[in-house]
Amino acid sequence: MKEISVSKPELKAIYEKIGGETGLSKILHTFYARMRDDILIGFFFDGKDVDVIAEKQKQFLMRAMGGSFSYSGKAPAQAHLELAPILAGHFDRRLRILEEVLRENGLPDQDIRSWIKFESAFRDGIQKS
Ligand code: HEM
Repeated sequence: MKEISVSKPELKAIYEKIGGETGLSKILHTFYARMRDDILIGFFFDGKDVDVIAEKQKQFLMRAMGGSFSYSGKAPAQAHLELAPILAGHFDRRLRILEEVLRENGLPDQDIRSWIKFESAFRDGIQKS
């Protein structure tokens, strides 16, 4: 995996603004429940515990946001190899849901753009053409 994460200043500022680990956790559990129930990408989560995935994602993001130093889960490019192929439309849909959840949580547009830019950097490693 490309080494992209490990604390970006704009992400650290967002992390503080949303209230650190507690705020991030709330956002991610909402985000993963919303994806599970989504008509376009919900099937990826069939038989999975989205709360467990949300916790992994939290650890992963906390490292990128400077909230912790370690992440022991799989790299994003490895985490999805057993799933049905994730296509561009699926990836776009996930980002759209993320945008909605972040907006509902009161994040300003600029922060939403920074967060989405960070997640978009993983597209090439995850998306199948
Ligand atoms: C449409 C896009 C995506 C879908 C449908 C998706 C779906 C999933 C699913 C179903 C799992 C659980 C896999 C399993 O239990 O075997 C998972 C794990 C994970 N995903 Fe995604 N994902 C997407 C994009 C992303 C992106 C963009 C990132 C990072 C920025 C990411 C980070 C992770 C991480 C860190 C895990 C946990 C890895 C572990 O268990 O060690 N995913 N994802």
